[in-house]
Amino acid sequence: MSRTVIHGGLVVTASDEIHADVLIEGGRIAALAAHGTDAATSWSADRRIDATGMYVLPGGVDAHTHMEMPFGGTYAADTFETGTRAAAWGGTTTIVDFAIQTMGRSLREGLDTWHAKADGKCAVDYGFHMILSDVDDSSLKEMDRLVAEGITSFKLFMAYPGVFYSDDGQILRAMQRASGNGGLVMMHAENGIAIDVLVEQALAEGRTDPRYHGDVRKVALEAEATHRAVQLARVAGAPLYVVHVSADEAVDEIAAARHKGLPVFGETCPQYLFLSTDNLAEPGFEGAKYVCSTPLRPREHQEVLWRGLRNNELQVVSTDHCPFCFSGQKEMGRGDFSKIPNGMPGVENRMDLLHQAVVDGHLSRRRWIEIACASPARMFGLYPKKGTIAPGADADVVIYDPGAEQTISAETHHMAVDYSAYEGRRVTGQVRTVLSRGVPVIEDRAYVGHAGHGTYLPRGTCQYL
Ligand code: URP
Ligand code: ZN
Ligand code: ZN
Repeated sequence: MSRTVIHGGLVVTASDEIHADVLIEGGRIAALAAHGTDAATSWSADRRIDATGMYVLPGGVDAHTHMEMPFGGTYAADTFETGTRAAAWGGTTTIVDFAIQTMGRSLREGLDTWHAKADGKCAVDYGFHMILSDVDDSSLKEMDRLVAEGITSFKLFMAYPGVFYSDDGQILRAMQRASGNGGLVMMHAENGIAIDVLVEQALAEGRTDPRYHGDVRKVALEAEATHRAVQLARVAGAPLYVVHVSADEAVDEIAAARHKGLPVFGETCPQYLFLSTDNLAEPGFEGAKYVCSTPLRPREHQEVLWRGLRNNELQVVSTDHCPFCFSGQKEMGRGDFSKIPNGMPGVENRMDLLHQAVVDGHLSRRRWIEIACASPARMFGLYPKKGTIAPGADADVVIYDPGAEQTISAETHHMAVDYSAYEGRRVTGQVRTVLSRGVPVIEDRAYVGHAGHGTYLPRGTCQYL
């Protein structure tokens, strides 16, 4: 059994910061011991990694990605191969992607399609959520079977009528089913019926630029949908996880539900913490780069999101990585913002941007690891295999240089997309080395991994309740 020792670093987990050496045996964490102790110095190893001056972190868990997702007549530009490689570059060693049920087809068919896309392609480990596009008796029954085999979370949409949209009755039924089978309902909470009216009116009045995407997807319509989702989950007796929360009033709805003791959880994404409607209003057609749903909000919302992350009104930061190239894809919406494919790249940037938030004083180091590694792993039934550094856990480990300076750019990133949403942004901190189950994937800032190393992760039910 191969043995690796990482020595001299500061091990940071959601609960501790320890100056400790880490012993890895056969792909798992075997032991931690304080630097210089007899235990640590007695370890023999095939490989020794010097982490002096570095953080030793659990690999990031990004619980919201869309590799190769079909949307608006095109496909998200990252494949499982390119997207998971980029994830590794950014210190993320697990992704949970969304398999999609096509309208009128079974969940199984959708899941098989996503397995075929990912199988043998991934650089790091991956699991799946299931998007329910068609809630009926048959898909409800299938939910039970999926939970039993490790697809334990289901995304429903209150937005996108005619595509992914479910009405309140369908949502209630899915939540009732989840309350019985242990599944977790993930909600895209925006009132899509009302938004479509506003889209039609904006276009008819000649308001066609990307910034109107943000205008029509009102804060009130995110907050209203969030409130409705909470009440439906309450009636069903089911837990609820609200994805990509962007608006202050939506955070308030989640906080109010949690205050009542309801099992309601919230996720936000780096784009809502670092970008704003100013980006959507960039001149020319540049704003298209920032079109995603829920949309970017005015800057004032950011402080509410940071506060929500600090006081656990929001539990997770995922990327909602759904990249479309500016050239040829985002451009499909020139003259009609409603035709711009929704989504932004970010799987490579999440750990660094959140470290910058530590540098800027928004988060503590431990909270950084909690929201980016431990909580997503717990939320989606992967803990403590993923999300921590403790004996028995998978040796998904990031050696992170907290003092390195870098400039984020499409010139240097590894995502298969022709722009960066954070172009030119200077951040402090950078991934040096990444191990996935003890195997180097990034070594001293060189990619040494390969497609097919990443394995599929059947998941348990939510461990956050
Ligand atoms: O704009 C976004 N978020 N695109 C991906 C699909 C979704 O709703 O998460
Ligand atoms: Zn969504
Ligand atoms: Zn998404």
